[in-house]
Amino acid sequence: MKKIIAISGSFRINSYNAATLKYIIEKYKENINIKHLDISTIPMFCEDLEYNIPSEVKKAIEEISECEGIIISTPEYNQTIPPVLKNLLDWLSRQDGLLNEKSVAIISASPSFIGGARAQVELKKLCFVLGMKIFNKKQLYISNASNKFDDKNNLIDKETKDSIKKFIDEYLKSI
Ligand SMILES: Cc1cc2nc3c(=O)[nH]c(=O)nc-3n(C[C@H](O)[C@H](O)[C@H](O)COP(=O)(O)O)c2cc1C
Repeated sequence: MKKIIAISGSFRINSYNAATLKYIIEKYKENINIKHLDISTIPMFCEDLEYNIPSEVKKAIEEISECEGIIISTPEYNQTIPPVLKNLLDWLSRQDGLLNEKSVAIISASPSFIGGARAQVELKKLCFVLGMKIFNKKQLYISNASNKFDDKNNLIDKETKDSIKKFIDEYLKSI
């Protein structure tokens, strides 16, 4: 079974991005070994910490080294990606070859009408710099997110569910 790591660029309790990944994990759990990687406890990167890598970072490195693919769902903060995501990628980038050719699928969810499109461009640029293999055959932007999840943060929008299915099915075929 393929192992996929799902990473949310937000750990807000009612995060639309975390909820999107939760929906994907639930839907695909029979077909793939898909696991959420909690990045909320990853310390801010500092080269001094590299002499004794924090255990949370070691765990992330281990999970990433064992997986065939990564699905990132990110919010857009000030037209770019949130610092927690950049921080994780900075940590991972320091491990020789870890991200090289690693397949990544990028999703964004936002209450805005452009659905985090600018953050996706920024994230794709960063993943390119890191030598990752960016899944680009299909795009997935979840716009107007506040209308697509219920008050318990379950995805309820049929069109979005259909788009997720097409996107993830195609992504899984590519890895
Ligand atoms: C610091 C900050 C900056 C933001 N900048 C943008 C932005 O540039 N574009 C956008 O669409 N939404 C922006 N937002 C709104 C987020 O898209 C919104 O809070 C979203 O729900 C966050 O993702 P989450 O639900 O996964 O936590 C910003 C939010 C914060 C906190």
